[in-house]
Amino acid sequence: MFERMAQLRQQLQLAGHHYYVLDEPLIPDAEYDRLFRELQALEAAHPEFMTLDSPTQRVGASPLAAFTQVRHRVPMLSIHTETDISEQGAVQFDTRVRKQLQLSDTDPPVNYVAELKFDGLAISLLYRDHMLVQACTRGDGETGEDVTHNVRTIGQIPLRLPQSAPADLEVRGEVYMRRDDFERLNERQRKRIAEGLKNEKTFVNPRNAAAGAVRQLDPKIAAQRPLSFFAYALHFHPEQAQSFSPVEATLYGLQTYVSHHQVLKALKDWGLPVSEDSRQVSGAKGLIAFHQDIAAMRDSLPFDIDGVVYKVNDISLQARMGMVSREPRWAVAHKYPAQEELTTVQAIEVQVGRTGKLTPVAKLAPVFVGGVTVTNATLHNEDEARRKDVRVGDTVVVRRAGDVIPEVVSVVAEKRLKDAQLFTMPSHCPVCGSLALREEGEADYRCTGGLFCSAQRKQAILHFAHRRAVEVDDLGEKLVDQLVDAGLVKTLPDLYKLGFSHLAALDRMAEKSANNLLASLERSKNTTLPRFLFGLGIRHVGEATAKDLARHFGGIEAIMDASIDQLLTVNDVGPVVAHSLRTFFDQPHNREVVEQLMACGMNWEEAAPGARLDLPLSGHTYVITGTLPTLSRDQAQAMLEAAGAKVAGSVSKKTTGVIAGEAAGNKLDKAVSLGIPVLDEAGLLALVKAP
Ligand code: IVH
Repeated sequence: MFERMAQLRQQLQLAGHHYYVLDEPLIPDAEYDRLFRELQALEAAHPEFMTLDSPTQRVGASPLAAFTQVRHRVPMLSIHTETDISEQGAVQFDTRVRKQLQLSDTDPPVNYVAELKFDGLAISLLYRDHMLVQACTRGDGETGEDVTHNVRTIGQIPLRLPQSAPADLEVRGEVYMRRDDFERLNERQRKRIAEGLKNEKTFVNPRNAAAGAVRQLDPKIAAQRPLSFFAYALHFHPEQAQSFSPVEATLYGLQTYVSHHQVLKALKDWGLPVSEDSRQVSGAKGLIAFHQDIAAMRDSLPFDIDGVVYKVNDISLQARMGMVSREPRWAVAHKYPAQEELTTVQAIEVQVGRTGKLTPVAKLAPVFVGGVTVTNATLHNEDEARRKDVRVGDTVVVRRAGDVIPEVVSVVAEKRLKDAQLFTMPSHCPVCGSLALREEGEADYRCTGGLFCSAQRKQAILHFAHRRAVEVDDLGEKLVDQLVDAGLVKTLPDLYKLGFSHLAALDRMAEKSANNLLASLERSKNTTLPRFLFGLGIRHVGEATAKDLARHFGGIEAIMDASIDQLLTVNDVGPVVAHSLRTFFDQPHNREVVEQLMACGMNWEEAAPGARLDLPLSGHTYVITGTLPTLSRDQAQAMLEAAGAKVAGSVSKKTTGVIAGEAAGNKLDKAVSLGIPVLDEAGLLALVKAP
């Protein structure tokens, strides 16, 4: 029993190391869970065999009433920040080091280790008899807080070090939160807030989220916050180092580590996470090159850094240099431009996106942040703007990290002007003046202007010209940009008013391309009602809905005039689609667009209203999956629909049959599991031919 438990602990530790530190899972999650549960069960039955390093003990401690203060055995020093943030900062540090070591110009360059300066919080980990026994924060450098219960929940931190490590030591490093983990965490927090959970909030940045998690009194909450760790320092306590036996001294003593580089390697060998981005460099030149290289990749790192750290590599030199005012002379922080800055909000404007989405944007007094001058920051949507309560005139914290668009993080409440006005979303689109609406359950306001709104026009034209809509070949994105920017196309009907002379005047438009486009436009005039309807780009009206509507109403007039109640009688049309249609056709300019398109010669066959219930496959739904031997998917769909069937995208209990070809996947599996008939191409042909 005892052996099995030890074996399980070892297996789980190894798997955990591969999963959390190396990012290369060794065993499937399910297997990990199985072993974990086995160990949990054994521990419950034999608590006497429970050990502190058991992976089951990462979470589970009860909440604390308060933190215990811990005095550091070796003070946790701070680090001098180079004032010059240009490359000269590196030169100045190197010059000081050389001077202090009394090196002359003819002496060789000093060797350094250059590291990232992780933007998290410093943590000290105490291992005794290879076991993690205590973790504490830096505090004031002399005394920190005991946060062992929370740090134990960090999967990357080994609860036990291998025998190859000294039994007793202190590891120092940074607890931080990855950017993707931070985004996911905030996403989850936003959901909780939306669900009405009290006392929940979103976090301002990864560092604050990490610090908040580490200083949680309840480890169950800390365990839900995804934290990571990098080790960057190793300490033996003076009294311990002295008590080393001669053998231990040679094996583990300070003299084993002649360089900081070796310390990092040892930490890594013992299973602690060590950044891959540290580099041994030589002289000021090496420091500058590192500073430049990291600056170039800063935005693409998976976590925030606020600079780099340079450390004299040789530990005996470090000892010789000592420290001044709690800062070692052998290390320095060289920062990058901040990713958060203060500025003021000059205005709040509302921008219109391609789908009509309205986004409130704060216009800022220009501020240099994250390496660029920022003048705009998104407020996302009405709820976010309200939550942050950003007002014109406010002093705000602006953040730009990575490729993420700049955003207002928070307002400095003390600096609010007395008469600052609350922001409200406009009731009409700022670009075209159409009604702006926020549908229930949605975060965004949208301009209802549709085709009339210039901000949405380019997108709308491309959609209209799409292969599955009225199909205008040769009308690509670049051309649409040109046509709209040149003012040649303001509405869809303008497309059909284009002449050869208009097109020939455009940049890079050859005679042949102009003729091709005119021919495509001409061809597109002969279309079908579903294609036309789909092409209008009405929200929530996809191809299938367009077909249902066409079948039900027979003609465009009837659709434009249908009441909500009438729309709701259409197969598969619910309140959302019905409202969207009504809103669209209630805008007179949208009706005008339809009328003008028809006046330009767009035509299709109209049918008598009413679903064709007389067709052989009326009321049946089919799903097509995989590649058929001779028919394209579109052809197969057209055949089924001509016979009155509906073609759906996914298999459900209501599906009549599935047409499966080569390389059919999930949909086929699902059909089989639901006992739905499966046909091949021959089966399909027989089906649609059947009287
Ligand atoms: S070394 C004696 N290395 O920066 C030097 N610090 O020191 C002790 N930090 O709060 C620190 N990345 O948490 C060192 N690669 C790194 C670091 C680093 C981040 C933090 C550390 C401390 C602050 C100032």
